[in-house]
Amino acid sequence: MDYFDIVLTLGRIALDADRPRAVQQLQRLQTELVKIDPEQAAKIARMMKTAGKRQPMSPSGLEEMRATADSAKRRLPGEILSYSTPMPTDKETGAPLASVIFPNELSSEPPLLGTALAESIEDLLREWQLAAELERIGATPNTRALLYGAPGVGKTKLARYLAHKLSLPCVEARLDGLVSSFLGTTARNIGALFDFANRYQCVLFLDEFDAIAKARDDAQEVGEIKRVVNTLLQSIDRRNGRGFTVAATNHEHLLDTAVWRRFDARVFIPMPDAETRGRLLDQFSRPLRLQDTERKFLMWATEGMSGADLETLIEAGKRFLVLHGSGEEDGRPTRDRMVRGRTLLQALRRQAFLNSRMFESSRLALLAGDNAALGNALLSASFTQRETGELLGLSQSAVSRKLRGQQEKSGG
Ligand SMILES: Nc1ncnc2c1ncn2[C@@H]1O[C@H](COP(=O)(O)OP(=O)(O)O)[C@@H](O)[C@H]1O
Ligand SMILES: [Mg+2]
Repeated sequence: MDYFDIVLTLGRIALDADRPRAVQQLQRLQTELVKIDPEQAAKIARMMKTAGKRQPMSPSGLEEMRATADSAKRRLPGEILSYSTPMPTDKETGAPLASVIFPNELSSEPPLLGTALAESIEDLLREWQLAAELERIGATPNTRALLYGAPGVGKTKLARYLAHKLSLPCVEARLDGLVSSFLGTTARNIGALFDFANRYQCVLFLDEFDAIAKARDDAQEVGEIKRVVNTLLQSIDRRNGRGFTVAATNHEHLLDTAVWRRFDARVFIPMPDAETRGRLLDQFSRPLRLQDTERKFLMWATEGMSGADLETLIEAGKRFLVLHGSGEEDGRPTRDRMVRGRTLLQALRRQAFLNSRMFESSRLALLAGDNAALGNALLSASFTQRETGELLGLSQSAVSRKLRGQQEKSGG
């Protein structure tokens, strides 16, 4: 039924150009289609509802997203990527320069970011929906976003989420193919990658962007870097209006300033704040539900961690729970607070040794140290005696006897 997509596209174009006449003809088509293919007739009706509307957002989130995606597609020139589209390759090695994640494979789950940032990102997407209004006042939707921030804060996840929201395939540059040790080849590969991205409707995603966008005054390899960055600048300019480009880097200070300036949106993705960290812990823990003490302890222990660290930690915790969690009930982890608290502490202790780098240094020292020091630290960090007992596997009175005494001693 390939022709029908063409019908829909023509319909959308017509609705944009001459709405009243297009509506008339599309209604005729719809009337005819109802007799032979009601499903297609319904598609026409839906398309007429969403396409070419010169008015603000539609009510439901789904409609809104469809409209954003429709609008993006309508406004982007280019062919449709398919599984059989050949990838561009490095001429010398044959290595692919990109890989494609198709819309149906892209996760619909947004990264968890602070509210203000998340709203700004949704605005970025809404610009596509209101592209017509923007154009009328001489503006265009944002098409180039640079994401920067520490490793593991969700930049890659966000880039793919943007592609998902636009319902466009995400063409991800592959550095292993792109960067070559042969003189001039990296620049040529960049050109080929952009040719490919410009030919098809897609989001071009340049992850680890610093690898190809390093400052041109870099003392080493000057000639080659210059060539690469100049090609990159030309390629970005050439792509203008041909599609969405997202770049991401953990090393924004290495970027060439001219490249930096090419992006309309330069979005700093911060480490999660306490509130977001709590939501991430809950999310990664699913389907398990964190008990209050567990959550409080995890919040304390994960101070300063990135989203990726939290995910790794919770995954390790789940594995530990299955391997060592005693007191199972029907194959599910126990609800016994004391057992769970103690198991969680053991799991974190294990990670403190296996994955030390993710912990903030004072937390690491306490987790790797003895119970008394940890217990006292918890008591002074607003954990109650009961909570501290649950984590250390001690009764409340034992906590009060053993730890308070020491605390007073060390305190006084
Ligand atoms: N803010 C976040 N919200 C949800 N998940 C996150 C977040 N940050 C990191 N993660 C998790 O960590 C993984 C790695 O994050 P990624 O997007 O690759 O980070 P970056 O590209 O910034 O290094 C993601 O796949 C996701 O599971
Ligand atoms: Mg990344």
